Amino acid sequence: MGAITLKESYPVEAGDFSTAGEASGKIKRVLKKLGIDSAIVRRVAVAAYEVELNLVIHSMGGHMDLIVEPDYLQLNVHDRGPGIPDVDLAMREGYSTASDDVRTMGFGAGMGLPNMRRNANDFSIRSTVGVGTDIEMGFKL
Ligand SMILES: Nc1ncnc2c1ncn2[C@@H]1O[C@H](COP(=O)(O)OP(=O)(O)OP(=O)(O)O)[C@@H](O)[C@H]1O
Ligand SMILES: [Mg+2]
Repeated sequence: MGAITLKESYPVEAGDFSTAGEASGKIKRVLKKLGIDSAIVRRVAVAAYEVELNLVIHSMGGHMDLIVEPDYLQLNVHDRGPGIPDVDLAMREGYSTASDDVRTMGFGAGMGLPNMRRNANDFSIRSTVGVGTDIEMGFKL
């Protein structure tokens, strides 16, 4: 365990499309300020945006915890909500339960979870139906 450079928690509200993207935007700015390599900042920002939008669209709200150590960055995300009945299915490219309304807004391609896994060095997801979902992503710095 390295020394912690930074530890912050960002709340995400369900259903609020007017503030959607704010938490991941803040995370991107904080990482830039810390002087983290811009290619890594981009990968974290993409993963953070996808997970934030999933909380807005699919959950009842939660938070994203950012922990930066000298050579590792963690993004740990927790939500309350319906959970995911079949995680393997949800991880497939193109799988989405998004409503027509949400699709009209440009979401629901079923690419968010696969994008997170692709952009992170380490990815884990645990979900309990009727309780919520936990996603942990790790990035080597
Ligand atoms: N936090 C969550 N809580 C409950 N269900 C979720 C959550 N995140 C994802 N899901 C489920 O997994 C599916 C796939 O998620 P994914 O992010 O890959 O696609 P999407 O959100 O439907 O579309 P896109 O991310 O491309 O806009 C969702 O449609 C939803 O059924
Ligand atoms: Mg998504």
